[in-house]
Amino acid sequence: MKANKFYITTPIYYVNDQPHIGHAYTTILADVLSRYHRAGGQEVFFLTGLDEHGQKVQQAAEERGISPKEHCDEMAPRFLQLWEKLHIRNDDFIRTTETRHKKVVQSVLDKVYAAGDIYFDEYSGHYCVGCERFYTEKELEDGKCPQHQRELKLITEKNYFFKMSRYQQQLIDYIHEHPDFLQPTHRRNEILGFLRQPLGDLCISRPKSRLSWGIELPFDKEYVTYVWFDALLNYITAPGYGSDEQAFKKWWPVDIHLIGKDILMTHAIYWPTMLMSAGIDLPRTIFAHGWWLSGESKMSKSLGNVVDPLALIDQYGVDPVRYYLMREMVLGQDANFTMESFIKRYNSDLANDFGNLLSRVSRLIERNFDGVLPDPGTVTDAERKIREDALNMFVKVQELINALRVNEAIEETMQFIRGVNRYMEQQAPWKLVKSDLAAAGRVLYTAAEALRIGALLLQPVMPNRTKTVLEILGAENTGSTWGALKPGTVLRKHTPLFPRIEVPKHVNKKQTKTKPDTDVNVITYDEFKKIELRTAEVLAAEKVAGADRLLKLQIRVGEEQRQLVAGIAEYYRPEELIGKMIVIVANLKPAKIRGIESNGMLLAAKKGEKLTLVTVDKSSIESGAGIY
Ligand code: MSP
Repeated sequence: MKANKFYITTPIYYVNDQPHIGHAYTTILADVLSRYHRAGGQEVFFLTGLDEHGQKVQQAAEERGISPKEHCDEMAPRFLQLWEKLHIRNDDFIRTTETRHKKVVQSVLDKVYAAGDIYFDEYSGHYCVGCERFYTEKELEDGKCPQHQRELKLITEKNYFFKMSRYQQQLIDYIHEHPDFLQPTHRRNEILGFLRQPLGDLCISRPKSRLSWGIELPFDKEYVTYVWFDALLNYITAPGYGSDEQAFKKWWPVDIHLIGKDILMTHAIYWPTMLMSAGIDLPRTIFAHGWWLSGESKMSKSLGNVVDPLALIDQYGVDPVRYYLMREMVLGQDANFTMESFIKRYNSDLANDFGNLLSRVSRLIERNFDGVLPDPGTVTDAERKIREDALNMFVKVQELINALRVNEAIEETMQFIRGVNRYMEQQAPWKLVKSDLAAAGRVLYTAAEALRIGALLLQPVMPNRTKTVLEILGAENTGSTWGALKPGTVLRKHTPLFPRIEVPKHVNKKQTKTKPDTDVNVITYDEFKKIELRTAEVLAAEKVAGADRLLKLQIRVGEEQRQLVAGIAEYYRPEELIGKMIVIVANLKPAKIRGIESNGMLLAAKKGEKLTLVTVDKSSIESGAGIY
């Protein structure tokens, strides 16, 4: 890594689809890393953009009855709006339909052609539009694409080929000589394993008769460039290849290409061999992260009735969502998104640890020092320890970020915050104010200063709320040196930064406390009317693996079919339930129980160890009927 610059990219996204969590995740990750590097004093170039050519995009446009260009122009703002919403601060946004990019693609094609690395040949292969690539017979699974499980058509046509095979040994050597080139290690091994077999050549053209939506080959007007050959070159177009040599020299080679594991092959094999042929240096690091899963499936596919993490932004704000995505995924592995884990993470880290420290400090200063930051006075070992922890944490976080261990870097910061909370407990400034105001001032100053340092280190992850913390402390634009808070500063009043998310109690969960009968909650008829009770017929029921108390039911509510999870396995066998007409709360917000979507809640009567479902006479009323 050139010490003073940091160039990072995301994949450029296909515009056939709406922006989704998969796109958002990588872009947030690149944003977070960029912000850490900027804060560390490096000049950063953060590139993202759109992959606008190819069959997938052409098909999406055709389905909508508009031209591919119109389709792209409509989709591009959607991505830009999402980036704005997610507080992405990218330095460039490239679209492969831009002239600057077309020029680069054509000039690289000319170069590779001149190097004798392109030839014309007839080819037969199975094409998957989803992957935008050919598969050989051997690679298919039951005649289907291994990624999309779709039947593939055999296509025979004349095309241009890139002599990728020529660079096989050079690539293997390069990977061995550059241990950081492909990360994480298991992905590197995967590629090295793949390279043990002879590498084929790459078909890099499409006849216009079949696909016209692409960049024309400079040496044959009847053909357009294969979308991956076109797309990968975006990484050199943006920093100025062929147009601004000085800028290109400054930024290239790229420090990190962030990608998902599904596009490892194209990045780790096509891309470096293309660069070798064109005489351009190879990227320093290609890092493949895992997927966000919901249960067993990749989240971007069809979200169905699963909660879309992006939908949480409107409810809880963008920072908690960024925090969750960054804290919860171990880079390189898959992660499971569940509402439960989101709430748990939010409540424990943000509401309890971070938010609580802020509200304690500011409340105590407000009450006992008229809202004015006290002077630390003479510090003791306890304060020196906090200061030392802060310094150590700074160094550690930087190391972890450089090693792309983002979740650990965040955890390191949270450990520090937890340490400060413990220091508060030990010192108990709420007691000290009565006996030794100077000592209370020392503790509160130290805690406030530690909070400032914590906020600075979380700033790349949660740029908004940490800004608020710094504003409350009167510490905007302060650096990492300990002691930047000025005693005498009037703290700004504020509402809770991370109010706790209260989890609605579910009938399926064991209630921790049962209310005594006398404690009757009186509600109005209007309040009762908000609860939509309906009859529902049980169509199917099964046990939930690994959860002794749960059953998963498929139910019919009028025209609608739903899934519901209920804690009744100790009382009913699945087969006993089929055909029963039960009563459910139909307008309950969907919840995930053990990772399974539950849409509604059934009613049951329970006393002591006995439980029986509330049912209605099936011969008198059908499912979906309201209950009043
Ligand atoms: N256009 C190509 C990339 C060309 S780069 C020169 C492409 N686009 S994509 O829109 O289909 O996907 C972009 C990225 O989203 C991939 O890195 C993919 O791994 C990522 N994700 C899609 N769904 C995902 C999850 N559920 N979780 C995390 N990332 C996943 O491929």
